[in-house]
Amino acid sequence: MTAKTPNLNRMLALEMGRVTERAAVCSALWVGRGDEKSADQAAVDAMRKELNVLDIDGTVVIGEGERDEAPMLYIGESVGTGKGPKVDIALDPLEGTTLTAKAMPNAMTVLAAAAGGTLLNAPDTYMDKIAVGGGLPAGVVDLDASPADNINSLAKAKGVKPSDITACILDRPRHADLIRAVRETGARVTLITDGDIAGVIATTDPETGIDLYIGVGGAPEGVLAAAALRCIGGQMQGRLVTQSDEQKARAAKMGVKDFNKKFELNEMASGDVIFAATGVTDGWLLDGIHHVHGGVSTHTIVMRSATGTVRRLKSFHYSTDKFK
Ligand code: FBP
Repeated sequence: MTAKTPNLNRMLALEMGRVTERAAVCSALWVGRGDEKSADQAAVDAMRKELNVLDIDGTVVIGEGERDEAPMLYIGESVGTGKGPKVDIALDPLEGTTLTAKAMPNAMTVLAAAAGGTLLNAPDTYMDKIAVGGGLPAGVVDLDASPADNINSLAKAKGVKPSDITACILDRPRHADLIRAVRETGARVTLITDGDIAGVIATTDPETGIDLYIGVGGAPEGVLAAAALRCIGGQMQGRLVTQSDEQKARAAKMGVKDFNKKFELNEMASGDVIFAATGVTDGWLLDGIHHVHGGVSTHTIVMRSATGTVRRLKSFHYSTDKFK
């Protein structure tokens, strides 16, 4: 599949970093101010503005919602100058609006670009997810296996005891049984209040101490996390959780035929993909926005699946006028 889709222009990767940078700087003005909406709006406005100067013929496939519910960066909106390559755009202008409003870790701005038609067009529903980092045998964990089987299999593959394994799970009442079952194996659970894209990506970095991401979070976030793992390595499966006929109808409208399908990583992001994210608050993956010498510093990760290149860019913006 990858070989048949055109390689995405590598300059685009760095340009995408500019887009997430701008969104991060603008939303960071709202860190700790208890106002999720304004933080999100600042990120949306900035991301759209910067996306629209890119020489791409982009279509938003994962965005702020459907056209009638989101005035900007809605699914189907055209972005870019229209002059460059045809790409699908998946974005979460501010992943962790509550994290931002409460000045908690792991808020970031996220953008992915892929060859047209290669990203799963996920509806704004939940998705059941499981993910591990790279270098492990294929199929070491499975969405349909019990938490105990997954922890034991992962521990065996890593050559450690189940009690040495740490699973990251969103702290939600819906996960009470899952959390109990994981702890019963002896494994540790790191609970996060929000931000499961960071939770998934954390499994790829031994320094985070996270071995496994498991549980139900947003489906759009699932596709963005899959895009990141396509670049950085790792395994992930996801299954949409549609809770009503209305949600099923929305999923069907977006092309989903089998509501119970277990999507493999390569089905959620099947072609060449570029992923960019910039930290808003300090987190596992990225430093947040810091104020330095009258300007700001940004920390951005840019990755390309075609080459498996992962770049971390620490940038200093001594004049912030350009973000206005
Ligand atoms: P925000 O909308 O505040 O950015 O929250 C993002 C998030 O925490 C995702 O990371 C996660 O996938 C999803 O929300 C979980 O949804 P819910 O809060 O409904 O459990």
